Amino acid sequence: MCGIIGYTGKEPALPLILGGLERLEYRGYDSAGVAIIEDGRLIVEKRVGKIRELVKSLWGKPYEGKTGIGHTRWATHGEPSTENAHPHTDEKREFAVVHNGIIENYLELRGELEREGVSFRSNTDTEVIAHLIAKSYRGDLLEAVLEVVKKLRGAFAFAVITVHEPGRIIGVKQGSPLVVGISEGENFLASDIPAILPYTRRVITLSDGEIADLTPEGVNIYDFNGNPITKDITIVPWDLISAEKAGFKHFMLKEIYEQPKAVGDTIRGLLSPAEELPFSLKEFRRVLVIACGTSYHAGLIGKSWIEKYTGVPTEVVYASEFRYGDFPVSEEDLIIGISQSGETIDTKFAINFAKDKGARTLAVVNVVGSSIDREADYTLHTHAGPEIGVAATKTFTAQLTALYFLAASNHGERDKLIAELMKMPARIEAVLEKAEDVERIAQKFMKKKDFLYLGRYLSYPIALEGALKLKEISYIHAEGYPAGEMKHGPIALIDENMPVVVVCPQDRVYDKTLSNVEEVRTRKGIVISVGFEGDERLEKVSREFISVPPVEEDFTPFVTVVPLQLLAYYIASRLGLDVDQPRNLAKTVTVE
Ligand code: G6P
Repeated sequence: MCGIIGYTGKEPALPLILGGLERLEYRGYDSAGVAIIEDGRLIVEKRVGKIRELVKSLWGKPYEGKTGIGHTRWATHGEPSTENAHPHTDEKREFAVVHNGIIENYLELRGELEREGVSFRSNTDTEVIAHLIAKSYRGDLLEAVLEVVKKLRGAFAFAVITVHEPGRIIGVKQGSPLVVGISEGENFLASDIPAILPYTRRVITLSDGEIADLTPEGVNIYDFNGNPITKDITIVPWDLISAEKAGFKHFMLKEIYEQPKAVGDTIRGLLSPAEELPFSLKEFRRVLVIACGTSYHAGLIGKSWIEKYTGVPTEVVYASEFRYGDFPVSEEDLIIGISQSGETIDTKFAINFAKDKGARTLAVVNVVGSSIDREADYTLHTHAGPEIGVAATKTFTAQLTALYFLAASNHGERDKLIAELMKMPARIEAVLEKAEDVERIAQKFMKKKDFLYLGRYLSYPIALEGALKLKEISYIHAEGYPAGEMKHGPIALIDENMPVVVVCPQDRVYDKTLSNVEEVRTRKGIVISVGFEGDERLEKVSREFISVPPVEEDFTPFVTVVPLQLLAYYIASRLGLDVDQPRNLAKTVTVE
């Protein structure tokens, strides 16, 4: 993960870099650092902790240098410490490097450098890049970088500056994301578009195997052999306003409230001819859905819809498991990769693997122009807008929208089904109006140490998602389970201290789930249920009852997930935790 930013231009680089790092902080936040070329020397400042620690350390140091790079870290190699924070430099501090990803052969490279007498300051894989570039440098930074990239193995993106050529930044992309921002007399490099949006909306998205050479006057792109490449400039459609908190205490809460819009915008987007798929799902022998985290949960629900409306057997596999399993994949399969960021490396590699086997690949992504968007044969875009909170919320309901749309599009009653889908924004709006009830329940149970989440059929993935949200942001242990499986183990955990959140809409498994509620009650478990408005049977057997508007069975996930997102949010927020940037997590996971 980690976030990279670089600036070269006419303004002092430091404030621009720090501002960019704050917008990249969701990618990792255990330490941060900057390097600025100031009067022919390299100023390097690094701090453990969040970006604000770095900002504080730079107060009263008005560096004027107009070229610099910055980094926010999510540790892979080497614990979070000042030494291991980026930028890393060569021994003479003439070259500084920031890096995202992993250099897989760094131990080998480090060994060679140490045998040649180079001494290392950190335990990172990154530092080898700085030393290698310094050794290869003969007056042209691009030449040196071209020589060094040939020695590196792994998935990475890095940026390098040198005191010998102030004004120049070289950026390299191989596996991890990197974009170039173009402006008048100044240019930017960043891991992600939001970092540079306040300064420019003109962007070049680098592909793997590309190198960007930036000066204030212009940007040139090359392949790893030094051949020039012509790339298109894209105008980013988002404006920054949509990436700000708009009066909400946290991005996560704002994003929960943006769900009606995210769902509506996604339907409108998918109705445009540009998103039309030139094939039917029924052409395939099998559909294989590949994803991680919350996107995986969306995939589990998508599977049920696809099987219901197309009859095509569908499997859902964690991307990290798929890659190293022995899944037979052929031209008769459709692979659907679901990813909010479009950069999750396991999902990306899984798609590449399936493509190599001849399967057709379809991506469901939120970030336009991301790696997965570009690499899959086809893409359905979720139009949720930028999601900043690390815990995914609006992108989950937008993914559900895209998957339902996909399944329904392959059915004779498509228009009727999509007309029903269009009611979801209003239904979610109605759930949000009950947020205060959820807040009250959160306050009551926020001190509990364990939660169990139960559901059947479409509500089972919702139980998984509810438990994941709670774990992610409140650090409370929570387990999602199929309600019918409870008696095969988790029932042993239930006593008067255990809140059991039961997702129980009136669907085909309603009576069965209700029996499970009774089993929890008999063991004195605290039943917190989510069910349809007016469901007195469920309300009567629950300690707490959260009502959602009644919807057709297919659509229950859209309304039942929202109270669970709110429950996790209010618990974490009342516990005073860092809701938008929970410990150890990152929004975009570009390491395996
Ligand atoms: C990280 C995020 C999760 C997300 C998962 C998959 O773990 O913290 O919120 O669900 O990655 O990300 P993707 O961008 O592929 O959907």
